[in-house]
Amino acid sequence: MGPHFVDLFILAAISTVAAELTSSGLSVTYNDVYYYISPFSSGNVTISPTSLRAVPSIHGFKPVTVVQGSVARAQLPALLAKWNSTDDVFQPAFAGAIFLTGGNSTCITQESGMIPGASSLLVPLSNSKIPSGPYFLEMATGSLYPVYRLYEDFAGAFMEALIPTPDGRFQPMSAQMPNSASLTVGVPSRLYFTKTADKPLAGVRVGVKDIYRLAGVKGSNGNRAWYNLYPPSEDTASAIQRLVDAGAQIVGLQKTSQFANGEYATADWVDYHEPFNPRGDGYQDSAASSAGAGSSISSYEWMDIAIGSDTGGSIRGPAQVQGLFGNRPSHGLIELDHVMPLAPALDTPGFIVRDTLLWEAANAALYGSNYKSLASTTPRYPTKIYTLRFPTSFNFSDTAPLFIDFANALAKFVGGSVSALNLNDEWAASKPAGVGNVTLSDLLNTTYATIIAKEQISLVRDPFYKDYAAAHDGRTPFINPTPLTRWAYGDSITPAQLATEYRAKQLFMDWFNTEILPPVDDAAQCSDGLLLYIGTEGDQLPRNEYFGPPEVPFGFGNNRISVFSEVPDSVFPLGQVAAKSAITNHVEYLPVAVDVLAAKGCDGLLARLAADLVEAGVLKVPKTGGTMDGGRS
Ligand SMILES: *[C@@H]1O[C@H](CO)[C@@H](O)[C@H](O)[C@H]1NC(C)=O
Ligand SMILES: *[C@@H]1O[C@H](CO)[C@@H](O)[C@H](O)[C@H]1NC(C)=O
Ligand SMILES: *[C@@H]1O[C@H](CO)[C@@H](O)[C@H](O)[C@H]1NC(C)=O
Ligand SMILES: *[C@@H]1O[C@H](CO)[C@@H](O)[C@H](O)[C@H]1NC(C)=O
Ligand SMILES: *[C@@H]1O[C@H](CO)[C@@H](O)[C@H](O)[C@H]1NC(C)=O
Ligand SMILES: *[C@@H]1O[C@H](CO)[C@@H](O)[C@H](O)[C@H]1NC(C)=O
Repeated sequence: MGPHFVDLFILAAISTVAAELTSSGLSVTYNDVYYYISPFSSGNVTISPTSLRAVPSIHGFKPVTVVQGSVARAQLPALLAKWNSTDDVFQPAFAGAIFLTGGNSTCITQESGMIPGASSLLVPLSNSKIPSGPYFLEMATGSLYPVYRLYEDFAGAFMEALIPTPDGRFQPMSAQMPNSASLTVGVPSRLYFTKTADKPLAGVRVGVKDIYRLAGVKGSNGNRAWYNLYPPSEDTASAIQRLVDAGAQIVGLQKTSQFANGEYATADWVDYHEPFNPRGDGYQDSAASSAGAGSSISSYEWMDIAIGSDTGGSIRGPAQVQGLFGNRPSHGLIELDHVMPLAPALDTPGFIVRDTLLWEAANAALYGSNYKSLASTTPRYPTKIYTLRFPTSFNFSDTAPLFIDFANALAKFVGGSVSALNLNDEWAASKPAGVGNVTLSDLLNTTYATIIAKEQISLVRDPFYKDYAAAHDGRTPFINPTPLTRWAYGDSITPAQLATEYRAKQLFMDWFNTEILPPVDDAAQCSDGLLLYIGTEGDQLPRNEYFGPPEVPFGFGNNRISVFSEVPDSVFPLGQVAAKSAITNHVEYLPVAVDVLAAKGCDGLLARLAADLVEAGVLKVPKTGGTMDGGRS
């Protein structure tokens, strides 16, 4: 066998290999800003390869700008300056070449004054389908590729950064900023998107809790074994699809405590690290389970909203301790397909957000026809304001003035009055006949712990263990201590005990929704009253604190009212309180928040109330960073 024959053999072998070379995008730096060039073109232009010689080039790509809408040349400088100040992705350096529709010139002209200190090439554009904004133009093909700005996930809020694919799926964003020990997340230019009636969330940047499945993406539910066992999802949860259909841009999956159970940073987060809460000394627990959701919205100006889930406080907790708005909605507004359940009887999808107007739009998109929006109606606010365990005088505590002032301002705003409610007394006075001499604490002490453990065991744990064992020679996967403790409790519960707990929940719900917070048959009012309870008083919960072993979540408290009665429960940040940090040895400021409840189905009332109270100056839009008011960070 001669060498000639061998060569032929090798050639034949090579030619039968189906080679697939695909781009997963490209990272570049432009004037010290980190960008990612999407691998998916937005459209093509016809351009001579030599015509943009003056524009810088990298790997055959040139930064350019598209301006749609026949903007007059005289208006261009002002438009570009506006883009520079309203979009974090655009910078004037993209305007070295401007593709412009509607001009009467057919050739490229050079103009100065479009951007300070440089001249621009104005290129006639006939393709009206490519949205305005910055692009990277591939000279060889004339394809325009969207630009993402890259940011460092220094708070550790994300599991994975994502970009949408043209077929409606998602794929990981393959970019890593230099000098960053964190994941890199990218956001597309805001200029590509225009809000319309159909697309109320156009361009809104959304983070998704890693229990919602996204087509093309692996999920973890906060568990490494789960992540490694299962392939990327074939489906997108319909909750997320609703947001995407409304124009939202999904920027990544965000961290959850394991299987959406409550966990503390140092004690419990074994598989993954808990995200950071930027408030105060920066080492306060970020609260669970929608931890990444809260952390991203309190840390990053470039993030707009995050979708989490609340079973027993998983949205409300992170919103409270990070000084953000957040909602546990009425139970059962939408189907939660392709979402990991904690307990479907109690699970709800909701948002964490800074901007209350965006909150309203996102609620409307997510909850659809079940959402009673009051955005375009004049609300007739309930005038009965109830408070649960509110301080009675200003000198009760440091935070007392915040709660008392808020209740009074709310009463004034709605033209009503505040009355203190004692739920135990109300129960004693009006509890249903036949329940016997039980307190709420007797009735509901084990209800939450039992329902979540039993439902998650059958819906999540058992199928997971079976799949894992089949793939790993009968082995059991690693599970963090908290879910393990809760599931062990669930194993000790009989079906009869579970049935008793469902009855207890129903009993409480029927009573509460009739005697305390009934709906009213008036769309502009919706709820008979509003009920306030203390969300957080800015207590310190340093993330470096060691706790004992996890405990089963027994007990009944104010934060369980909405869980059992299925009413909406929204967190409104009220302000902050000084707290001396043992870590920084300095006075820091921690968020104080109130929770507001309305009758079941009155989610739109609470969102409208938040927006109106912001407009009236009673509430403030929180800032990102160390403090809610933009002070020291
Ligand atoms: C741009 O042109 C390429 C071929 O060069 C084609 O594959 C692609 O689909 C075009 N893009 C769009 C958005 O039309
Ligand atoms: C663009 O915005 C930056 C700040 O974001 C500012 O420093 C710069 O002067 C702006 N340039 C123009 C041309 O408006
Ligand atoms: C377009 O044509 C008009 C009239 O012919 C002319 O005055 C104007 O300068 C032209 N504009 C551009 C941008 O070339
Ligand atoms: C508030 O403080 C004042 C002065 O310290 C005290 O006299 C008063 O009793 C306090 N009020 C209440 C309700 O605790
Ligand atoms: C109900 O129980 C409480 C203690 O839980 C007791 O003080 C009270 O006397 C009882 N009332 C009746 C009518 O049995
Ligand atoms: C709640 O139930 C647990 C477990 O049965 C029990 O240990 C605890 O004492 C109960 N607490 C109350 C307030 O009833």
